[in-house]
Amino acid sequence: MTVLGEKQESGVRSQGTGDRGHATLVAAPISPSLPLSVSPSSPAPFKIQLADRLTKLPPYVLARVNALRDQKRKAGQDVIDLGMGNPSEPPQEIVIEKLMEAAQDPNNHGYSKATGILNLRREVAAKYFKKFGVRLDPESEIIVTIGSKEGFSHLMLASVGPGDNVIIPAPFFPAHKYAVAMAGASVIALEVEKEDEFLSNIAFTCEHLSPSPKVVVFNYPHNPSSVTVDPAFWVEVVKLARKYGFMVVSDFAYADVAFDGYTPPSFLAAPGAKDVGVEFTTMSKGYNMAGWRCGFCAGNPELVKALGTIKGYYDYGLFQAIQIAAIVALRHTDAAVEAQSRLYQSRRDLLLDGLRKQGWQVPTPRAGMFVWGRIPEPWVSRMSSVDFAMLMLDQANVALSPGSGFGDAGEGHCRMALVENENRLKQAVRQMGRVLG
Ligand SMILES: Cc1ncc(COP(=O)(O)O)c(C=O)c1O
Repeated sequence: MTVLGEKQESGVRSQGTGDRGHATLVAAPISPSLPLSVSPSSPAPFKIQLADRLTKLPPYVLARVNALRDQKRKAGQDVIDLGMGNPSEPPQEIVIEKLMEAAQDPNNHGYSKATGILNLRREVAAKYFKKFGVRLDPESEIIVTIGSKEGFSHLMLASVGPGDNVIIPAPFFPAHKYAVAMAGASVIALEVEKEDEFLSNIAFTCEHLSPSPKVVVFNYPHNPSSVTVDPAFWVEVVKLARKYGFMVVSDFAYADVAFDGYTPPSFLAAPGAKDVGVEFTTMSKGYNMAGWRCGFCAGNPELVKALGTIKGYYDYGLFQAIQIAAIVALRHTDAAVEAQSRLYQSRRDLLLDGLRKQGWQVPTPRAGMFVWGRIPEPWVSRMSSVDFAMLMLDQANVALSPGSGFGDAGEGHCRMALVENENRLKQAVRQMGRVLG
Protein backbone atom coordinates (compact mmCIF):
# COMPACT_ATOMS: atom_id res chain seq x y z
CA MET A 1 0.00 0.00 0.00
CA THR A 2 1.33 3.42 -0.83
CA VAL A 3 0.76 6.15 1.68
CA LEU A 4 2.08 9.63 2.10
CA GLY A 5 5.39 10.01 3.97
CA GLU A 6 5.37 11.34 7.51
CA LYS A 7 6.59 14.96 7.55
CA GLN A 8 5.40 15.93 4.12
CA GLU A 9 2.20 13.90 4.29
CA SER A 10 -0.25 16.67 3.66
CA GLY A 11 1.64 18.27 0.83
CA VAL A 12 0.42 21.48 2.39
CA ARG A 13 2.39 24.46 3.69
CA SER A 14 1.44 27.48 5.70
CA GLN A 15 1.43 30.80 3.88
CA GLY A 16 1.27 33.25 6.78
CA THR A 17 -1.96 34.25 8.45
CA GLY A 18 -5.20 35.27 6.89
CA ASP A 19 -7.11 38.36 7.92
CA ARG A 20 -8.62 36.59 10.96
CA GLY A 21 -5.32 35.37 12.24
CA HIS A 22 -5.73 31.83 10.87
CA ALA A 23 -2.92 30.27 8.88
CA THR A 24 -3.76 30.06 5.20
CA LEU A 25 -2.77 26.68 3.78
CA VAL A 26 -1.90 26.00 0.18
CA ALA A 27 -1.15 22.72 -1.55
CA ALA A 28 2.48 22.22 -2.53
CA PRO A 29 3.82 19.54 -4.90
CA ILE A 30 5.23 16.53 -3.06
CA SER A 31 8.88 15.90 -3.74
CA PRO A 32 9.30 12.68 -5.77
CA SER A 33 12.60 11.92 -3.94
CA LEU A 34 10.87 11.36 -0.58
CA PRO A 35 9.84 7.84 0.50
CA LEU A 36 6.12 7.30 -0.02
CA SER A 37 5.60 3.83 1.32
CA VAL A 38 5.79 2.06 4.68
CA SER A 39 5.94 -1.60 5.34
CA PRO A 40 2.48 -3.09 6.00
CA SER A 41 4.09 -5.43 8.53
CA SER A 42 5.02 -2.62 10.95
CA PRO A 43 2.27 -0.05 10.97
CA ALA A 44 2.75 2.53 13.69
CA PRO A 45 -0.28 2.74 15.96
CA PHE A 46 -2.52 5.48 14.65
CA LYS A 47 -3.30 8.16 17.20
CA ILE A 48 -6.76 9.68 17.19
CA GLN A 49 -6.35 13.19 18.53
CA LEU A 50 -9.50 14.74 19.90
CA ALA A 51 -10.21 18.34 20.77
CA ASP A 52 -9.32 19.64 24.24
CA ARG A 53 -12.92 20.72 24.73
CA LEU A 54 -13.93 17.08 24.96
CA THR A 55 -11.99 16.81 28.21
CA LYS A 56 -14.50 19.25 29.70
CA LEU A 57 -17.14 16.53 29.51
CA PRO A 58 -16.84 14.31 32.61
CA PRO A 59 -17.58 10.58 32.63
CA TYR A 60 -21.34 10.14 32.56
CA VAL A 61 -22.55 9.74 36.16
CA LEU A 62 -25.50 7.64 35.10
CA ALA A 63 -23.33 5.23 33.10
CA ARG A 64 -23.08 2.69 35.96
CA VAL A 65 -26.79 2.79 36.65
CA ASN A 66 -27.70 2.53 32.96
CA ALA A 67 -25.27 -0.34 32.40
CA LEU A 68 -26.82 -2.38 35.22
CA ARG A 69 -30.35 -1.53 34.04
CA ASP A 70 -29.53 -2.72 30.51
CA GLN A 71 -27.84 -5.86 31.81
CA LYS A 72 -30.90 -6.71 33.93
CA ARG A 73 -33.27 -6.15 31.04
CA LYS A 74 -31.14 -8.30 28.81
CA ALA A 75 -31.40 -11.03 31.42
CA GLY A 76 -35.19 -10.76 31.19
CA GLN A 77 -35.79 -8.89 34.45
CA ASP A 78 -38.59 -6.34 34.68
CA VAL A 79 -36.99 -3.01 35.60
CA ILE A 80 -39.33 -0.15 36.51
CA ASP A 81 -37.59 2.83 34.96
CA LEU A 82 -38.10 6.16 36.71
CA GLY A 83 -34.73 7.40 35.50
CA MET A 84 -35.40 9.65 32.55
CA GLY A 85 -38.07 12.28 31.81
CA ASN A 86 -39.04 10.50 28.64
CA PRO A 87 -42.82 10.79 28.14
CA SER A 88 -44.66 7.49 28.43
CA GLU A 89 -47.65 8.34 26.22
CA PRO A 90 -47.69 8.91 22.45
CA PRO A 91 -48.64 12.24 20.84
CA GLN A 92 -52.29 12.77 19.87
CA GLU A 93 -53.62 10.73 16.95
CA ILE A 94 -54.38 13.85 14.82
CA VAL A 95 -50.77 14.93 15.22
CA ILE A 96 -49.44 11.56 14.07
CA GLU A 97 -51.93 11.55 11.17
CA LYS A 98 -50.74 14.99 10.10
CA LEU A 99 -47.16 13.81 10.24
CA MET A 100 -48.00 10.85 7.98
CA GLU A 101 -49.93 13.05 5.57
CA ALA A 102 -47.15 15.63 5.44
CA ALA A 103 -44.58 12.87 4.93
CA GLN A 104 -46.51 11.78 1.78
CA ASP A 105 -46.04 15.22 0.26
CA PRO A 106 -42.93 15.30 -1.94
CA ASN A 107 -42.52 19.00 -1.17
CA ASN A 108 -41.69 18.31 2.43
CA HIS A 109 -38.54 16.28 1.91
CA GLY A 110 -36.01 18.91 0.96
CA TYR A 111 -33.91 20.98 3.32
CA SER A 112 -36.15 23.11 5.47
CA LYS A 113 -35.31 26.57 6.78
CA ALA A 114 -32.80 26.60 9.66
CA THR A 115 -35.06 29.09 11.45
CA GLY A 116 -38.25 27.01 11.03
CA ILE A 117 -41.28 27.52 8.82
CA LEU A 118 -43.17 30.76 9.35
CA ASN A 119 -46.55 29.13 10.01
CA LEU A 120 -45.12 27.20 12.93
CA ARG A 121 -43.52 30.34 14.34
CA ARG A 122 -46.92 32.07 13.97
CA GLU A 123 -48.53 29.26 15.96
CA VAL A 124 -45.96 29.67 18.73
CA ALA A 125 -46.69 33.41 18.81
CA ALA A 126 -50.43 32.64 19.04
CA LYS A 127 -49.87 30.29 21.97
CA TYR A 128 -47.71 32.82 23.84
CA PHE A 129 -50.44 35.45 23.35
CA LYS A 130 -53.29 33.16 24.36
CA LYS A 131 -51.59 31.65 27.39
CA PHE A 132 -49.41 34.49 28.70
CA GLY A 133 -50.62 37.67 26.95
CA VAL A 134 -47.15 38.00 25.37
CA ARG A 135 -46.92 39.52 21.89
CA LEU A 136 -44.13 38.12 19.72
CA ASP A 137 -43.20 38.89 16.12
CA PRO A 138 -42.97 35.46 14.46
CA GLU A 139 -40.56 36.83 11.85
CA SER A 140 -37.91 38.21 14.18
CA GLU A 141 -38.64 37.04 17.71
CA ILE A 142 -39.18 33.28 17.32
CA ILE A 143 -37.00 30.52 15.92
CA VAL A 144 -37.66 26.77 15.68
CA THR A 145 -34.95 24.56 17.17
CA ILE A 146 -34.18 20.86 16.96
CA GLY A 147 -35.42 20.39 20.50
CA SER A 148 -34.77 23.08 23.07
CA LYS A 149 -31.49 21.40 24.09
CA GLU A 150 -30.01 21.99 20.64
CA GLY A 151 -31.23 25.58 20.68
CA PHE A 152 -29.84 26.21 24.15
CA SER A 153 -26.43 24.74 23.29
CA HIS A 154 -26.11 26.74 20.11
CA LEU A 155 -27.28 29.91 21.81
CA MET A 156 -24.39 29.48 24.25
CA LEU A 157 -22.02 29.24 21.29
CA ALA A 158 -23.60 32.38 19.89
CA SER A 159 -23.48 34.41 23.08
CA VAL A 160 -20.52 33.43 25.28
CA GLY A 161 -16.92 32.34 24.94
CA PRO A 162 -13.57 32.20 26.73
CA GLY A 163 -13.33 34.79 29.50
CA ASP A 164 -17.10 35.02 30.01
CA ASN A 165 -18.92 33.93 33.15
CA VAL A 166 -22.35 32.29 33.08
CA ILE A 167 -24.58 31.57 36.08
CA ILE A 168 -26.68 28.40 36.00
CA PRO A 169 -29.06 26.92 38.58
CA ALA A 170 -27.78 24.15 40.87
CA PRO A 171 -28.47 21.26 40.93
CA PHE A 172 -28.22 21.51 37.18
CA PHE A 173 -29.62 19.89 34.06
CA PRO A 174 -26.29 18.68 32.57
CA ALA A 175 -26.80 20.49 29.24
CA HIS A 176 -26.88 23.81 31.08
CA LYS A 177 -23.41 23.32 32.48
CA TYR A 178 -21.75 21.58 29.58
CA ALA A 179 -23.13 23.75 26.78
CA VAL A 180 -21.53 26.70 28.55
CA ALA A 181 -18.29 24.76 29.05
CA MET A 182 -18.24 23.67 25.38
CA ALA A 183 -18.58 27.33 24.40
CA GLY A 184 -15.41 27.95 26.43
CA ALA A 185 -17.03 30.11 29.12
CA SER A 186 -16.89 29.56 32.90
CA VAL A 187 -19.85 28.23 34.87
CA ILE A 188 -21.00 29.46 38.27
CA ALA A 189 -23.67 27.14 39.67
CA LEU A 190 -25.89 28.74 42.34
CA GLU A 191 -28.37 26.86 44.51
CA VAL A 192 -31.86 27.27 43.19
CA GLU A 193 -33.97 25.81 45.96
CA LYS A 194 -34.97 29.10 47.64
CA GLU A 195 -35.85 31.69 45.03
CA ASP A 196 -34.94 34.75 47.15
CA GLU A 197 -31.53 33.33 47.97
CA PHE A 198 -30.97 32.44 44.33
CA LEU A 199 -31.66 36.05 43.31
CA SER A 200 -29.54 37.56 46.08
CA ASN A 201 -26.68 35.20 45.21
CA ILE A 202 -26.94 36.29 41.58
CA ALA A 203 -26.74 39.94 42.69
CA PHE A 204 -23.79 39.16 44.98
CA THR A 205 -21.95 37.37 42.18
CA CYS A 206 -22.57 40.26 39.80
CA GLU A 207 -21.20 42.72 42.39
CA HIS A 208 -18.06 40.73 43.16
CA LEU A 209 -17.07 38.68 40.13
CA SER A 210 -14.97 40.11 37.35
CA PRO A 211 -16.02 40.05 34.60
CA SER A 212 -19.59 40.27 35.80
CA PRO A 213 -21.71 37.34 34.52
CA LYS A 214 -22.77 37.83 30.92
CA VAL A 215 -25.65 35.35 30.92
CA VAL A 216 -27.83 33.94 33.70
CA VAL A 217 -29.70 30.72 32.93
CA PHE A 218 -33.04 30.16 34.67
CA ASN A 219 -35.04 26.95 34.61
CA TYR A 220 -38.51 26.97 36.15
CA PRO A 221 -40.19 24.53 36.64
CA HIS A 222 -36.75 23.27 37.54
CA ASN A 223 -35.22 19.99 36.54
CA PRO A 224 -34.36 18.08 38.73
CA SER A 225 -35.85 19.72 41.85
CA SER A 226 -39.26 20.76 40.38
CA VAL A 227 -38.95 24.14 42.17
CA THR A 228 -41.36 26.69 40.66
CA VAL A 229 -41.83 30.47 40.77
CA ASP A 230 -44.63 33.01 40.49
CA PRO A 231 -44.83 35.90 37.99
CA ALA A 232 -43.35 38.44 40.46
CA PHE A 233 -40.08 36.48 40.36
CA TRP A 234 -39.58 37.33 36.70
CA VAL A 235 -40.20 41.03 37.34
CA GLU A 236 -37.27 40.95 39.79
CA VAL A 237 -35.13 39.04 37.30
CA VAL A 238 -35.65 41.69 34.60
CA LYS A 239 -34.74 44.43 37.11
CA LEU A 240 -31.56 42.58 38.08
CA ALA A 241 -30.65 41.94 34.46
CA ARG A 242 -30.95 45.66 33.71
CA LYS A 243 -29.00 46.63 36.80
CA TYR A 244 -26.10 44.26 36.21
CA GLY A 245 -26.24 43.96 32.43
CA PHE A 246 -26.61 40.17 32.17
CA MET A 247 -28.69 38.48 29.48
CA VAL A 248 -31.43 36.10 30.61
CA VAL A 249 -31.94 32.65 29.14
CA SER A 250 -35.07 30.99 30.50
CA ASP A 251 -35.33 27.24 29.91
CA PHE A 252 -39.10 26.73 30.09
CA ALA A 253 -39.11 23.06 29.06
CA TYR A 254 -41.82 22.14 31.61
CA ALA A 255 -44.13 25.04 30.73
CA ASP A 256 -46.98 22.66 29.85
CA VAL A 257 -46.84 20.21 32.75
CA ALA A 258 -48.43 21.69 35.87
CA PHE A 259 -50.69 20.56 38.71
CA ASP A 260 -53.34 21.78 41.15
CA GLY A 261 -54.40 24.73 38.96
CA TYR A 262 -50.91 26.26 38.86
CA THR A 263 -49.71 27.78 35.57
CA PRO A 264 -45.93 28.17 35.35
CA PRO A 265 -45.30 31.81 34.42
CA SER A 266 -43.37 32.78 31.32
CA PHE A 267 -40.31 34.99 31.78
CA LEU A 268 -41.42 36.83 28.62
CA ALA A 269 -44.57 38.07 30.37
CA ALA A 270 -42.50 40.27 32.71
CA PRO A 271 -42.32 43.92 31.60
CA GLY A 272 -39.15 44.56 29.59
CA ALA A 273 -38.24 40.85 29.36
CA LYS A 274 -37.74 40.94 25.62
CA ASP A 275 -35.08 43.63 26.05
CA VAL A 276 -32.91 41.38 28.17
CA GLY A 277 -33.35 37.79 27.04
CA VAL A 278 -35.04 34.80 25.50
CA GLU A 279 -37.02 31.76 26.53
CA PHE A 280 -36.91 28.16 25.30
CA THR A 281 -40.02 26.00 25.06
CA THR A 282 -40.52 22.53 23.63
CA MET A 283 -42.99 20.04 22.18
CA SER A 284 -41.16 17.25 24.05
CA LYS A 285 -42.90 17.23 27.41
CA GLY A 286 -46.52 18.46 27.39
CA TYR A 287 -47.17 17.20 23.85
CA ASN A 288 -45.35 13.87 24.28
CA MET A 289 -43.19 14.59 21.23
CA ALA A 290 -39.73 14.14 22.78
CA GLY A 291 -38.36 12.05 19.93
CA TRP A 292 -39.58 14.51 17.30
CA ARG A 293 -37.01 17.10 18.44
CA CYS A 294 -39.08 20.24 18.09
CA GLY A 295 -38.46 23.26 20.30
CA PHE A 296 -38.49 27.04 20.13
CA CYS A 297 -36.52 30.06 21.23
CA ALA A 298 -38.47 33.31 21.60
CA GLY A 299 -37.85 36.83 22.79
CA ASN A 300 -35.03 39.28 22.16
CA PRO A 301 -34.64 39.65 18.38
CA GLU A 302 -30.86 40.10 18.48
CA LEU A 303 -30.41 36.86 20.40
CA VAL A 304 -32.92 35.05 18.18
CA LYS A 305 -31.02 36.28 15.14
CA ALA A 306 -27.67 35.24 16.61
CA LEU A 307 -29.02 31.74 17.24
CA GLY A 308 -30.30 31.65 13.64
CA THR A 309 -26.87 32.65 12.37
CA ILE A 310 -25.14 29.84 14.27
CA LYS A 311 -27.80 27.34 13.23
CA GLY A 312 -27.39 28.40 9.61
CA TYR A 313 -23.88 26.98 9.80
CA TYR A 314 -24.72 23.85 11.81
CA ASP A 315 -28.03 22.57 10.44
CA TYR A 316 -30.75 22.89 7.84
CA GLY A 317 -33.64 22.94 10.27
CA LEU A 318 -36.15 20.34 11.29
CA PHE A 319 -37.89 17.90 8.92
CA GLN A 320 -40.76 19.96 7.51
CA ALA A 321 -43.39 17.27 8.07
CA ILE A 322 -42.65 17.42 11.80
CA GLN A 323 -43.02 21.18 11.79
CA ILE A 324 -46.40 20.88 10.03
CA ALA A 325 -47.60 18.28 12.53
CA ALA A 326 -46.38 20.51 15.38
CA ILE A 327 -48.70 23.26 14.08
CA VAL A 328 -51.62 20.86 14.47
CA ALA A 329 -50.49 19.91 17.97
CA LEU A 330 -50.24 23.54 19.06
CA ARG A 331 -53.54 24.51 17.43
CA HIS A 332 -55.75 21.57 18.38
CA THR A 333 -54.50 19.61 21.37
CA ASP A 334 -54.71 21.93 24.40
CA ALA A 335 -57.20 19.58 26.09
CA ALA A 336 -54.84 16.63 25.68
CA VAL A 337 -51.95 18.62 27.15
CA GLU A 338 -54.09 19.34 30.21
CA ALA A 339 -55.16 15.70 30.47
CA GLN A 340 -51.51 14.68 30.35
CA SER A 341 -50.78 16.98 33.30
CA ARG A 342 -53.65 15.43 35.25
CA LEU A 343 -52.18 12.01 34.60
CA TYR A 344 -48.80 13.12 35.95
CA GLN A 345 -50.57 14.71 38.91
CA SER A 346 -52.23 11.48 39.99
CA ARG A 347 -48.95 9.60 39.54
CA ARG A 348 -47.26 12.30 41.64
CA ASP A 349 -49.81 11.88 44.44
CA LEU A 350 -49.47 8.12 44.49
CA LEU A 351 -45.68 8.22 44.50
CA LEU A 352 -45.45 10.93 47.18
CA ASP A 353 -47.82 9.02 49.42
CA GLY A 354 -45.82 5.82 49.14
CA LEU A 355 -42.43 7.50 49.57
CA ARG A 356 -43.48 9.53 52.61
CA LYS A 357 -44.67 6.35 54.33
CA GLN A 358 -41.13 5.05 53.86
CA GLY A 359 -39.58 8.12 55.49
CA TRP A 360 -38.58 10.10 52.39
CA GLN A 361 -38.63 13.89 52.68
CA VAL A 362 -40.27 14.90 49.43
CA PRO A 363 -41.70 18.30 48.60
CA THR A 364 -44.92 18.33 46.55
CA PRO A 365 -44.06 19.54 43.07
CA ARG A 366 -46.48 22.01 41.44
CA ALA A 367 -45.15 21.25 37.98
CA GLY A 368 -42.66 19.25 35.95
CA MET A 369 -42.27 15.52 35.44
CA PHE A 370 -40.28 14.66 38.55
CA VAL A 371 -40.39 13.92 42.23
CA TRP A 372 -37.15 15.00 43.89
CA GLY A 373 -36.53 13.55 47.29
CA ARG A 374 -33.90 13.41 49.98
CA ILE A 375 -32.79 9.81 50.47
CA PRO A 376 -34.03 8.64 53.88
CA GLU A 377 -31.81 7.86 56.85
CA PRO A 378 -29.83 5.77 57.53
CA TRP A 379 -29.11 5.28 53.83
CA VAL A 380 -28.23 8.88 53.08
CA SER A 381 -25.51 8.84 55.78
CA ARG A 382 -24.17 5.50 54.62
CA MET A 383 -23.85 5.86 50.88
CA SER A 384 -23.67 8.19 47.92
CA SER A 385 -26.72 8.80 45.75
CA VAL A 386 -25.11 6.72 42.97
CA ASP A 387 -24.62 3.78 45.36
CA PHE A 388 -28.19 4.19 46.57
CA ALA A 389 -29.50 4.18 42.99
CA MET A 390 -27.40 1.06 42.32
CA LEU A 391 -28.87 -0.59 45.42
CA MET A 392 -32.44 0.22 44.36
CA LEU A 393 -31.77 -1.09 40.88
CA ASP A 394 -29.98 -4.21 42.03
CA GLN A 395 -32.38 -5.23 44.80
CA ALA A 396 -35.69 -3.51 44.00
CA ASN A 397 -35.49 -3.49 40.18
CA VAL A 398 -36.31 0.23 40.20
CA ALA A 399 -34.15 2.69 38.22
CA LEU A 400 -33.80 6.16 39.77
CA SER A 401 -31.60 9.11 38.82
CA PRO A 402 -28.97 9.70 41.51
CA GLY A 403 -28.85 13.35 42.59
CA SER A 404 -25.12 13.67 41.92
CA GLY A 405 -25.91 13.29 38.21
CA PHE A 406 -27.01 16.92 38.54
CA GLY A 407 -23.82 18.09 40.25
CA ASP A 408 -22.66 18.24 43.87
CA ALA A 409 -25.76 20.16 44.95
CA GLY A 410 -27.83 17.10 44.07
CA GLU A 411 -25.94 14.69 46.34
CA GLY A 412 -28.11 13.03 49.00
CA HIS A 413 -31.13 13.10 46.66
CA CYS A 414 -32.74 11.01 43.97
CA ARG A 415 -35.01 12.04 41.12
CA MET A 416 -37.95 9.93 40.04
CA ALA A 417 -39.69 10.60 36.73
CA LEU A 418 -43.47 10.17 36.58
CA VAL A 419 -43.26 8.15 33.40
CA GLU A 420 -44.57 4.77 34.52
CA ASN A 421 -48.27 4.05 35.01
CA GLU A 422 -49.90 3.93 38.44
CA ASN A 423 -49.73 0.16 38.84
CA ARG A 424 -46.04 0.17 38.02
CA LEU A 425 -45.46 3.07 40.41
CA LYS A 426 -47.23 1.20 43.22
CA GLN A 427 -45.08 -1.81 42.44
CA ALA A 428 -41.94 0.38 42.47
CA VAL A 429 -42.82 1.77 45.91
CA ARG A 430 -43.50 -1.74 47.25
CA GLN A 431 -40.23 -3.10 45.89
CA MET A 432 -38.20 -0.18 47.24
CA GLY A 433 -39.96 -0.52 50.62
CA ARG A 434 -38.87 -4.15 50.91
CA VAL A 435 -35.23 -3.12 50.51
CA LEU A 436 -35.45 -0.08 52.79
CA GLY A 437 -37.07 -2.22 55.51
C1 LIG B 1 -34.56 21.48 31.83
C2 LIG B 1 -34.62 20.84 30.51
N1 LIG B 1 -34.35 21.56 29.42
C3 LIG B 1 -34.38 21.01 28.19
C4 LIG B 1 -34.67 19.67 28.01
C5 LIG B 1 -34.61 19.09 26.65
O1 LIG B 1 -35.76 19.36 25.97
P1 LIG B 1 -35.85 19.07 24.40
O2 LIG B 1 -36.40 17.72 24.25
O3 LIG B 1 -36.75 20.15 23.90
O4 LIG B 1 -34.47 19.20 23.83
C6 LIG B 1 -34.95 18.87 29.11
C7 LIG B 1 -35.21 17.45 28.90
O5 LIG B 1 -35.07 16.61 29.70
C8 LIG B 1 -34.93 19.48 30.38
O6 LIG B 1 -35.17 18.75 31.47
